[in-house]
Amino acid sequence: MSAQPLNIGMIGYGFMGKAHSNAYAKVNHFFPELKQKPVLKAVCARNRDRAETFAETWGYESVETDWRQLIERSDIDAIDICSPNNTHREIALAAAEKGKMILCEKPLARNVAEGEEMVHAVEEAGVPNMVWYNYRRVPAVTLAKQLIDEGRLGKIFHYRAVFLQDWTISADLPQGGEALWRLDIDAAGSGVTGDLLAHCIDTAIWLNGSLDSVTAMTETFIKERKHNLTGKVEKVGIDDACAFLARFRNGSLATFESTRYARGHKALYTFEINGEHASIKWDLHDLHRLEYFDHSDDSAVRGWRSIHVTDSDLPYMKRWWVPGLQIGYEHSFVHQVADFLASLETGEVAGPTFKDALETQMVCEAVLNSATTGQWTKV
Ligand SMILES: NC(=O)c1ccc[n+]([C@@H]2O[C@H](COP(=O)([O-])OP(=O)(O)OC[C@H]3O[C@@H](n4cnc5c(N)ncnc54)[C@H](O)[C@@H]3O)[C@@H](O)[C@H]2O)c1
Repeated sequence: MSAQPLNIGMIGYGFMGKAHSNAYAKVNHFFPELKQKPVLKAVCARNRDRAETFAETWGYESVETDWRQLIERSDIDAIDICSPNNTHREIALAAAEKGKMILCEKPLARNVAEGEEMVHAVEEAGVPNMVWYNYRRVPAVTLAKQLIDEGRLGKIFHYRAVFLQDWTISADLPQGGEALWRLDIDAAGSGVTGDLLAHCIDTAIWLNGSLDSVTAMTETFIKERKHNLTGKVEKVGIDDACAFLARFRNGSLATFESTRYARGHKALYTFEINGEHASIKWDLHDLHRLEYFDHSDDSAVRGWRSIHVTDSDLPYMKRWWVPGLQIGYEHSFVHQVADFLASLETGEVAGPTFKDALETQMVCEAVLNSATTGQWTKV
């Protein structure tokens, strides 16, 4: 039986617009058992010419320039929010009211208050919902989850995560508007905390459970920048760098650090977890590998091993090439769509849901509050 169409209406055609469109296009080829098939029904962006060019390149059937029109359309089943953070709440509320499924980019919202409204809206409407914390679906990260759940690490003592970039070091870089909305507090909600640490926090909660309390410091190194939308030099409201200590509810201790001022680093997301029996390390630059140390190994061969996560019995890998051939970043989005489509058949929820993502939002907010007060803060 051929798969049923699931009509996608995507808002925003930037970085994530491409990553998601690619995932929708590929998913049924690599997961042929799925009973639903995403159809690229409409892409929405404010500039019609650019939206039309994108639609043509990626095979979208139609274009909208106002997301409200997109949501009104009866031929759209799922709304995919790939626009900046300040648009997530309003779009999600309207889409839920119309009974649409919602796939929303991370962070869920700019703050907890917005996130709570969004969770309430999707739960009230009973619509399937998911947030694109895609790193959970990198096979090596999924394997880390499997190893932890099997108890191979034993009691976990330490969790250490960093996400480092260097693209905002120049004081001449303006804030606001196209491509630079991440530097504008109104559009982004926060700086590296919501943009980068949110990923680290989502992975951490997924792997090691909820965080209990945090103490944080943040810094805005460049205090004023020209704002592209007003043309004026304005105060910068985002955190350029953030580091925090945390306690997990299970007793593990954690450190998290993120910055856009780590010269030489473009997207260095790493985490290391140290347990009683074993440790694991993962690095986005080598995303298909998982480093593993097992203390129970014979001492003659005991040491860090580097697992090349390509064997077909490892998470998601039987879907792709032959053992030894690795996959990359874009595949995490294909896996996430596949899990979402499967969840529509089985009724088993594919996380992270809006509610799961709200927990990450709560940690981000506790971190930012702690940085202001200088106090340990409960999540
Ligand atoms: N999962 C991830 O790893 C990941 C990576 C990057 C970005 N993101 C998230 O994805 C979202 C988009 O980020 P991006 O990097 O793709 O941004 P981007 O700047 O590349 O693209 C944003 C798009 O939104 C459109 N847009 C802005 N306002 C709009 C409006 N009112 N109506 C319709 N379209 C509008 C823009 O025209 C543009 O096409 C953000 O929430 C971001 O945090 C997630």
